[in-house]
Amino acid sequence: MNPPEVTEGVRSRLALALDIDDLVEAGRLSRRMLPWFSVAKVGLELFSASGPEAVGTFVDQGYDVFLDLKLHDIPTTVGKAARVLGSLGVSYVTAHASGGTQMLSAAVDGLNEGASAAGLTPPMVLAVTILTSDTDAPSGLFEERIGYAVNADCGGVVCAATELSQLSRLAPELLSVVPGIRPEGISSHDQGRPATPSQAIRQGAGLLVIGRAVTGSIDPEDAAAGIADEVARTI
Ligand code: C5P
Repeated sequence: MNPPEVTEGVRSRLALALDIDDLVEAGRLSRRMLPWFSVAKVGLELFSASGPEAVGTFVDQGYDVFLDLKLHDIPTTVGKAARVLGSLGVSYVTAHASGGTQMLSAAVDGLNEGASAAGLTPPMVLAVTILTSDTDAPSGLFEERIGYAVNADCGGVVCAATELSQLSRLAPELLSVVPGIRPEGISSHDQGRPATPSQAIRQGAGLLVIGRAVTGSIDPEDAAAGIADEVARTI
């Protein structure tokens, strides 16, 4: 098989959600997906199964690691957990924006402290605004949560593609990370507000989170190549 031709410009926009509870299996899949993805997302399932070892596996393979633990607790607890996570060598960590500015600030400070104690670059905090499975959040909630993220100096937010135009008006400086991505004709599963890769990119998405559209495919290489091709034609 010829090596796929994927530019760094495309790869840098794609994060692979490894929602698998077995690190050996996840590591095999991530190795196969390296030509198309620059970021490996470790969520609650894999972190519950393998913890920091999962981070090391993907860092060693050359990925930027996105730790999607959606931190949400009192600020002190979040800060202390973030300090530990900051020393692991990850690039992004999520925290729930509903926790408010003080809690998000504790996450930012904790990650900075943990990273600097370990001599590492601090990870970026991504504030989770509204889960993409949530289809009936009240109007105004997104704006309020973006305010918390900005005040806490978060580097980015996780939001649905449908919120991107609002985000670009409210806080264009934030990196937008968009899950719920489905190429045309693929099941939306439990994602209430899905978008195709090209729709999300056109609406201004920075990083696309791709999960089951690739990990649930009978041919993950083909699925990844299709998404990368769609992104390449749109950017
Ligand atoms: O499989 P699928 O592409 O739907 O995966 C989406 C991923 O993005 C999951 O890992 C999920 O936890 C995550 N996510 C989400 N909605 C958010 C934040 C993260 O679906 N608001």
